[in-house]
Parts: sequence; C-alpha cells; structure tokens
Amino acid sequence: MLEKDNVKGEGVSVISDFYDIKEADVMVIDDEKINLEIIEELLIDEGFSNINCFINPQKAVEHYRHTPPDLVLLDLNMPVMSGFEVSKQFQEISHTPPPPVLVLTALADKATRLKSLESGARDFLRKPFDDQEVIYRVRNLLEMHLAHKENIDYSNNLEHVVEQRTQELLDTQNEMVESLGLAAEYRDNETATHTIRVGLYAQALAKHLGVNDREAHQLKLAAPLHDIGKIGIPDNVLLKAGKLDDEEWVLMKKHAEFGHNILKNSKSLLLKNAGIIALTHHEKWDGSGYPAGLKGSDIHLYGRITAIADVFDALTMSRPYKKAWPIEDAIQLINDESGKHFDPSIVEVFNQIIDALLKIREDNSD
Ligand SMILES: [Fe+2]
Ligand SMILES: [Fe+2]
Repeated sequence: MLEKDNVKGEGVSVISDFYDIKEADVMVIDDEKINLEIIEELLIDEGFSNINCFINPQKAVEHYRHTPPDLVLLDLNMPVMSGFEVSKQFQEISHTPPPPVLVLTALADKATRLKSLESGARDFLRKPFDDQEVIYRVRNLLEMHLAHKENIDYSNNLEHVVEQRTQELLDTQNEMVESLGLAAEYRDNETATHTIRVGLYAQALAKHLGVNDREAHQLKLAAPLHDIGKIGIPDNVLLKAGKLDDEEWVLMKKHAEFGHNILKNSKSLLLKNAGIIALTHHEKWDGSGYPAGLKGSDIHLYGRITAIADVFDALTMSRPYKKAWPIEDAIQLINDESGKHFDPSIVEVFNQIIDALLKIREDNSD
C-alpha cells in the first residue's frame, strides 16, 4: 500500500486520494486461455480485484487506448499480433505515466530479452510461471507505477493550490486597495465614484498608449489611491470652505508625499505603483507642478496618465461647492494644457478615446 501524508490546506486537499494496490487495474494478454486462467486465479488469490484478461491482442490495444491499466502482463508468442507488436502499439498511445509491461515468455534467450526491452517491456516472467515470482514482480511494478501516478496527481494538485492561493492573495490585495481608497474618501470631500472613474480613465488611457493589459489593470486599481495622502492633512485645511492661505496651501501640497510615504515600502507592486501615482499626480509636464517640479518624461508615466484622468473627472462632475463644467469646456481645457500641465502624447490619446471616456463617465456617475 502506498501512502503519502495528506497535505491539507484550508479547504483544499492536495492529495485527493491514494491508490490501493489491490484495486490496481491489471491487464493480462495471452492467446492461450489456460495461461489467462492461471494468472487470473493467482492474482485473485492475492487479493487483486480488477483484472482484465484478453485473448485477442487487438481488443487489448483498443481497451488500453481508452482505459489505461496500471500494469500489463503480456505474452510474446501470439499468432495474430506478437507481444512485441502490442508493446510497440502501446508506446504509440501516450499515457502519463505509461503503464509498465511485464513480458511473459517461454523464451529466455538474450535476443528475445533485448527485443522485449526495446519494444518497451519493463520486466520478464518465465513460463512456466513460479507463483511467488509472478506476485513479487507484479507487486514491484505496481508499486512503482502507483507511486509515479501519485506524484503526478500531487504536483497537479499542488499547481492548483498555488493558483488558488495566488488568486486569494490578489483578491486580498485588491480589497485592501479599495479599503484604503475608501478611508481616504471619508477624510476628503471626494466621492467613491470619483476615485473609481479616475482608475477607469487611467486604465483606458494606458491601454491606448500601448501599456499591456495586466499593467493597465494595475493602474485601474492603483490610480484611485492618488489622494490617499490627504489622510495626513488636518481638517481645518482639508475641509476649509474658503481659499487656502499660503501656509495652508504648502501643507495641502504635502498630500502627494504623504501618500507616497504610506505606500512606498510595500512589497506589493500594486501598492508601490499607487505610491508613485500619489507622489507624481500633481507634477506638470512643463515643470511647474509639485512636489518635485519634475519635467516631461521625468514624471512617471502613471503620474502623467493619472493627472489627466483626475483633472478631467474633477472638472466634469459636480460637487456640493461647485457645478460641473460642460464637457466641451473640460475637453478644451485639457487640450489648452497640452504641453503645459499635461503630456501632449497623452492628450492626443485622450482626444482619440473621448467617446470611451464619456461612456465610463456615464456608466459610473455619482
Ligand atoms: Fe491630489
Ligand atoms: Fe482626485
């Protein structure tokens, strides 16, 4: 009996089953009925319960094709199809792992043995049979084969478990990002849909800029965190109804670095990227932005994309304290700011996909 520890994860069994040697599927092929009967009886006496005997090798090959056995006992001298031929045909049918073939022969000369091995046999049994020898060889081959089968099952299941765990990890990460975004929104006057739309706009722009789908999807999740640093801004500044004075403005601008500080040390690429976005979403193409006054392509692409997504959404949605701009005016402003606030190549893409962006706006309104 082959046993392996059941490696169990939460709700997931790595080993679904293990194989009982007594239930192994043994195929016996011999053109002489009496030989089949002898072997079958011997195996039954040993407790084997799953024995398929074939007097016709062609039928055996057919059976083998759709029901791979765990072991084949194969006679060599048969009139219609020799054991060598049967063995060769088995080899052409690729089962994983291939069932071992135990050759039954009255001829024990070297040439026959070599030819058997060449055609794929694993071991030999001399006729007339010695009962004990038959049982030992059958057991040995079955044990090896079932262990092999079990290992294959094990790694297949392991792959499945790894996939499942990876998905769980991704789900948790996405949930965390959403929760962080929500936390920031509670502090700010922003709505949840603002951050969602910024993510979707950023994803759409990125895709049309040639960023691959996986990365664009990351941007969709990370861009909503652009203002996470506002968590660190005091209420009297963040929620002030009137205009900010110079000192308050300096403090307000700090939200970019605060956001970066919150996220930059994460091991998650998603959160790291969110940190980059937080830091760079107020940088401007002409170098007049903050916090670093970076210019042109020195500003990370994610920051340049999110800048347009954020401004476009802020302009086109109404807030308790301001009315939404007409769409045409917002598009005009984005274009007027091409090469000043915004990366001209992204403004170009923005114009190309404006219909898709407006559809996002419509589908995700407040
Ligand atoms: Fe911001
Ligand atoms: Fe925003």
